[in-house]
Amino acid sequence: MMQYRRAWGCGGLLAGALAAAAWLYAGRPRERVPGHEGLDDPEVAKAFNRVATLPHMRLLRRFVARRAARMVQHGEAADLGCGPGHLVFQLARQAPGLHVTGVDLSDEMLAQAERYAERSGMRRRVSFEKGDVQQTPFPDASLDLVVSTLSLHHWSNPIAVLNEIARVLRPGGSFLVFDLRRDLSAPAWVLLWFVTHFVVPAALRRANEPLSSRNAAYTPEEAAQLAQQSRLDGWRIACGPQWLAIQGTKA
Ligand SMILES: C[S@@+](CC[C@H](N)C(=O)[O-])C[C@H]1O[C@@H](n2cnc3c(N)ncnc32)[C@H](O)[C@@H]1O
Repeated sequence: MMQYRRAWGCGGLLAGALAAAAWLYAGRPRERVPGHEGLDDPEVAKAFNRVATLPHMRLLRRFVARRAARMVQHGEAADLGCGPGHLVFQLARQAPGLHVTGVDLSDEMLAQAERYAERSGMRRRVSFEKGDVQQTPFPDASLDLVVSTLSLHHWSNPIAVLNEIARVLRPGGSFLVFDLRRDLSAPAWVLLWFVTHFVVPAALRRANEPLSSRNAAYTPEEAAQLAQQSRLDGWRIACGPQWLAIQGTKA
């Protein structure tokens, strides 16, 4: 009898949790909601950096760095919206023939990246520059590879950035712009909601991250439209259940 009651209790709790999750998911924003992550706020930047060192973020960067290093092994590379620079270091490790420059708007992020660079043992193979990725500091046709992770959804004019990529890449150079996709699966969306409300440090919770990033992200169809409207050629959209990438090789 006792066991029946317990089973009914657990079943009831599970059904309640599933109903609550379904209700939350049904209320998610469907259209894109551009947002500001506030990474110039030192507390938010520090909190982001803590999250960025967690295992799933490391896996994500390894995945992107491997894909990028398969495209190009030598020459000059840039990471647009590099944040604290983790992908810059990962890529430099993965492809020892590359020099990688990280570009970011945020002083906080760049200061953190410079601190890591001092300790990385790769000081001569990485650099960081402050700048807006819509107007990068690179001369025309000077780069062999351009990468970016989790920054596309922040760009106020993403077509201008794709045009910049077309300008700064040499013919035959490759690009990989990787981001979350907004049309996440229901379980992934519910997990993101849970993480935003109960797991991330308080500074990120106040900025409604990472849910805000999901809301500002593109669907694969929208990403294709951006690429189509830009001067970038040789692109294709690659995607997985939770991510998308605008990637390819300039003709
Ligand atoms: C979510 S963080 C991602 C950082 C890093 N790419 C990573 O994957 O850990 C987004 C970064 O993009 C930068 N960013 C956003 N808009 C930018 C712009 N227009 N120019 C340069 N950096 C930008 C922000 O300052 C921030 O560091």
